Amino acid sequence: MRAPLVVGNWKMHGTVAEARALATAIRDGLKRPRGVEVVLCPPFTALAAVAEILGAGPIQLGAQTCHHEAQGAHTGEIAPPMLAELGCRWVLVGHSERRKEIGESDEVLNLKVKAALAHGLTPVLCVGETAAERRQGLTFTTVEGQLRAGLAGIGPDGIARTALAYEPVWAIGTGVNATPAQAGEAHGYLRGLLSELASKEVAQTVRILYGGSVKPENADTLIAEPEIDGALVGGASLAAPGFIAIVRKAARVGAAAKE
Ligand code: 13P
Repeated sequence: MRAPLVVGNWKMHGTVAEARALATAIRDGLKRPRGVEVVLCPPFTALAAVAEILGAGPIQLGAQTCHHEAQGAHTGEIAPPMLAELGCRWVLVGHSERRKEIGESDEVLNLKVKAALAHGLTPVLCVGETAAERRQGLTFTTVEGQLRAGLAGIGPDGIARTALAYEPVWAIGTGVNATPAQAGEAHGYLRGLLSELASKEVAQTVRILYGGSVKPENADTLIAEPEIDGALVGGASLAAPGFIAIVRKAARVGAAAKE
């Protein structure tokens, strides 16, 4: 059984003071999340403050990206060991905003996945098609290319320590989520590829999150899809009550699936 995983991607939101307040409200609202794993990914500048607030509690810390080298002359970049030192256990890799705005290539993202694994971080490799690609019937081609390139040269053990996020670009920040059927189909396709790249057994253990306009109102029907193992939440992770509601719904779906 794959325990549901809910990751809050705060993107470029939150001063340290705001991040402290949000992390405190989420922590206090989710004292003992049962049957669900929760990760918060604040901006780099707030990681230390949020780490202090989460302490040794059940909510985990993640970063929104990392460089692929452990150190070096890379102005403005942050290396995986720096994140691990702050208590990060997770890192998002290849979010569509970084692919588009920063121009991160599949080749560089593959190096980042490897670097994260090498430094004990769990990478969440993000894939997803644009609206034009979906219109042209290229959804599977696009996500397959991103997945194969992102995981190139990584063996079954590494793949087993990785998570995926299917985030259709047209659903991000638009209020228009993929339907559970659309997302379920893409997730099933990705899991089939994981079977080929690693093994059927490993593919069954890898969590594949859905991201793109996840809200308290749609979280349960999305996560109830058998192939959807949780959510990568952007906008709705910025207010504690909504994010907590999503986590609770994910936990309920996970518990129901076990019965
Ligand atoms: P929204 O939830 O704001 O659509 O963002 C999704 C996302 O990009 C999470 O990484």
